[in-house]
Amino acid sequence: MSGIVAYIGKQEAKHLLLNGIKQLEHRGYDSAGISLFDGKDLLIAKKAGKIAELEKILEQKDISSNIGIAHIRWATHGAPNDINSHPHCDNSGNIAIVHNGIIENYSALKTKLSEEGFSFKSETDTEVLAVFIGALYNKVKNLDEAVRLALSEVDGTFGIAVISKYEPDKLILARRGSPMLIGIGDDEYIAASDASSIIQHTRQVIYLSDNEMAVLKKDSFYTKTIDNIATNNKVHLIEFDIEQIEKGGYEHFMLKEIHEQPNTFFETLRGRLLAEKGDVRLGGLLPVIDKIKNTKRIIITACGTSWHSGLVGEYFFETLAQIPVEVEYASEFSYRNPILDKNDLVFAISQSGETADTLAAIKEVKRKSAVALGIVNVVGSSIARATDAGVYIHAGPEVGIASTKAFTSQIAALLLIALHIGRMRNLSQVDGIKIAKAMLKIPDQMKSILDNTENIKEIAKLYSKTSNCLYLGRGINFPVALEGALKLKEISYIHAEGYPAAEMKHGPIALIDENMPVVFVAPQDEIYKKIISNIQEVKARKGKVIVIATEGDKRIKDYADHVITIPKTIDILTPLLSVLPLQLLSYYIAIERGCNVDNPRNLVKAVTVE
Ligand code: F6R
Repeated sequence: MSGIVAYIGKQEAKHLLLNGIKQLEHRGYDSAGISLFDGKDLLIAKKAGKIAELEKILEQKDISSNIGIAHIRWATHGAPNDINSHPHCDNSGNIAIVHNGIIENYSALKTKLSEEGFSFKSETDTEVLAVFIGALYNKVKNLDEAVRLALSEVDGTFGIAVISKYEPDKLILARRGSPMLIGIGDDEYIAASDASSIIQHTRQVIYLSDNEMAVLKKDSFYTKTIDNIATNNKVHLIEFDIEQIEKGGYEHFMLKEIHEQPNTFFETLRGRLLAEKGDVRLGGLLPVIDKIKNTKRIIITACGTSWHSGLVGEYFFETLAQIPVEVEYASEFSYRNPILDKNDLVFAISQSGETADTLAAIKEVKRKSAVALGIVNVVGSSIARATDAGVYIHAGPEVGIASTKAFTSQIAALLLIALHIGRMRNLSQVDGIKIAKAMLKIPDQMKSILDNTENIKEIAKLYSKTSNCLYLGRGINFPVALEGALKLKEISYIHAEGYPAAEMKHGPIALIDENMPVVFVAPQDEIYKKIISNIQEVKARKGKVIVIATEGDKRIKDYADHVITIPKTIDILTPLLSVLPLQLLSYYIAIERGCNVDNPRNLVKAVTVE
């Protein structure tokens, strides 16, 4: 997703900003740009393609500057080309802005400004905002006031950074629905849409709130609302380390993050799982614990991989806490007037904490006075702050675009919550202890899968040229099948579908022939016998069968072309293990196909537009 980095201070802004946007590269983008003020002029350089293209342009310009803004763009309005790239300027060329988000009323504003004689070079909503700010500046002759007045007439979402030749000692930032953090240094500020661009410089940050703006000078700053009311912000400390956002010897972030899962899973449990009591301590939920205890209904809302973990969570809540659950795509939820009341608990799951669809769902939940709870990875993110209470998954920064470690940590967090609610209700201590003990074995069991990847690499080689693939699972492993298919689609561009295994005979079975690989998630659980029948149905039609099976399952070899084993655990924990071979399979298939796994086409790390 688009990313912003901005700087004012005493250092050379050019390198600092370029390094800043490079930290955001892995999130996906199609163009990059920068604006710097050199004491005389406002320089703009922007280019479609990789940041390296932008660097080539900048190498030819000898510029020294202590203030600037930079951007990587993921196109929403207008094709990804040089002209549509950010920064955009007002008509005088003296005000430059970079923007994340979408200005929804840009078309009406553009018509109005065109009628007043203003012109536009690009197809973007951002340029409309820049021109609008310039038009207002002509009237009020004050940069922050012009920005403020423009933003108060804008519908939609924005994180923006603005600099100007008119008032070159000021960097202006604002946000609504798109993150903006201000890193506080020593007589300098580095602002960004993501903490990873700030952490090399300072750990002290302020998170701007929605409808808030900041005016930064080299040695001071103030914040206010877009309605012109002064605000005070708490300074937070960024807790993760720079090593956590580097590759650490792995070829790709995705592979590193897959291999981190024994640790990240444990981090989610750390200090929370009281194994001897068969219970859980979750400080983040204390403010709403009575509501949680007495709720009659839970709704889980999320997108993509997080939605899949929500489907696993449904089993946890229903099995352990006996509470009915509905799992909703966040992108659908807020648009269909959901029936909610103040006793309903809604869990929003999000790795980034910035997914616009999920944020919109939370707003709807709060509008209807239901309890909004977050299961989020990024501390201080918009979703974490918009919810009434929640549980951080503590998986550390996830850089690979395809989500992996967040999935298993989200499942861990859901399990902790369900176990806790279960124990507050009917779940016995004996059952609680049994689950907790099995959870503590998971990190070593994950390690044993990750230490034995040769078989998976071989299978990846054999199937790397396929055009289609089916993923089938049942019960709690049906969401794992969906997740396996999503991982394959995302990074290898192979068409893949996940289905409940028994649903196959109601249609998808028509697809089976000798060219169709079918991946079954079939651990030896309660419904093992049923899934064996489904495997036989595929085999009978000459499909190629790859099975994720439990270690020691001797029978499975008779039905499968390939078997990948996972250690034995209790039924409800199997997704924590069965998903690992699927993540690895898609990774190695994508590598065989020469795909860019950390930066798959058309995808971004956090989808901050609805
Ligand atoms: C898949 C993937 C996406 C995200 C989805 C939600 O690998 O990364 O499907 O899971 O965009 O993102 P978050 O969890 O950040 O809200």
